[in-house]
Amino acid sequence: MKSDRTPPVRRRENFLVFGSPLVGEEEKKEILDCLESGWLGTGPKVARFEEEFRTYTHGDFAVAVNSCTAALHLSLLAADIGPGDEVITTALTFCATVNAIIHAGAQPVLADVDPATLNIDPRQVEAKISKKTKAIVPVHFAGRPCDMDALVGLAKQHNLTLIEDCAHAIETTYRGRHAGTFGKFGCFSFYVTKNVVTGEGGMIVTPDENAANRLKMLALHGMSKDAWKRFGDEGYKHYYVAECGFKYNMMDIQAALGIPQLRRVETNWERRREIWDRYQREFQDLPLTLPPPVEKETRHAYHLYTVLVDSKRAGISRDEFLTRMTDENIGVGVHYQSIPVHPYYQEHFGWRPEDYPNSFAIGQQTVSLPLSAKLSDGDVSDVVQAVRKSLAQ
Ligand SMILES: Cc1ncc(COP(=O)(O)O)c(C=O)c1O
Repeated sequence: MKSDRTPPVRRRENFLVFGSPLVGEEEKKEILDCLESGWLGTGPKVARFEEEFRTYTHGDFAVAVNSCTAALHLSLLAADIGPGDEVITTALTFCATVNAIIHAGAQPVLADVDPATLNIDPRQVEAKISKKTKAIVPVHFAGRPCDMDALVGLAKQHNLTLIEDCAHAIETTYRGRHAGTFGKFGCFSFYVTKNVVTGEGGMIVTPDENAANRLKMLALHGMSKDAWKRFGDEGYKHYYVAECGFKYNMMDIQAALGIPQLRRVETNWERRREIWDRYQREFQDLPLTLPPPVEKETRHAYHLYTVLVDSKRAGISRDEFLTRMTDENIGVGVHYQSIPVHPYYQEHFGWRPEDYPNSFAIGQQTVSLPLSAKLSDGDVSDVVQAVRKSLAQ
């Protein structure tokens, strides 16, 4: 058992919050500008954020929404996926990926992951393709790109829509091409812990102009194009409801946070890479499984730094490790327990964790350590010390 006598690595009031974002003066200025402009809803700042994001990812069209969950849901609808269709996704993801498929009315089908990369295994995808399969939704886990050659190949061969879940993958590239631009839709998240934050927020990148227009309409109740302008200085504009849409639009006040965040995306990425490299060096002698090196011709977004705690090797369980890190005042995360462990999915789809053995095992062993660009060198040292202390018998 761990000794109670040694004081924690950090004091309680200095608890290191997992995923706390780096927010600077530019964000404050842009938000103030938005507040003073009197236009808080969807407007010019959202349009600017969309344009800058489109440019950054080299996409053709970008549509801002209020979450990546909304982005996934709308992309599935815009791909005309619904009841009677099957959509294949990974068994190791956040519930939002699977829930979006269910909300679209389709049947989610899970494929297991590669145990080293934690990404969906294309061979498992292939094994799950049926006559009803309409789409594949891969997740670039932690920011490491999936095997896009294989997934694009499968999508082409079987005429499937590819919708990339890029919630972790804003800076990710694969053979020089940006994540989110391989298929029909790329869905990004700007949730508070993500690499670019807007509080809540999301973006869809697509090469298809018609699809982009439909997404915009669906994100605002299905109201006709540019309905957001109806209170502007060009005079009142009537709108017409063309489809039964959703309230998924992004507001200018969110974009005001996102614009300066996006402009700093590369410097923040550099900082996270430094922290990542330091963890890799500092932990190499510990009884942990560390992330494998980044694959050639790819760029990792360094969104999550995850280690595996195998109780046989580490001498303590993953959950005990989580408790010890928290006792040391270091915030930690679990990304993720595998999808089939959750009661809802077991009850509705009959999924059993043991049928997805790699995702299940990772879900029981994985721990995410703090990786925000906000961390000082001292914070990183505290994390390293806390990991060492937590593993010491
Ligand atoms: C892999 C993955 N997909 C989707 C989402 C949903 O993103 P949002 O919170 O922006 O809806 C998340 C959020 O954490 C995620 O990690």
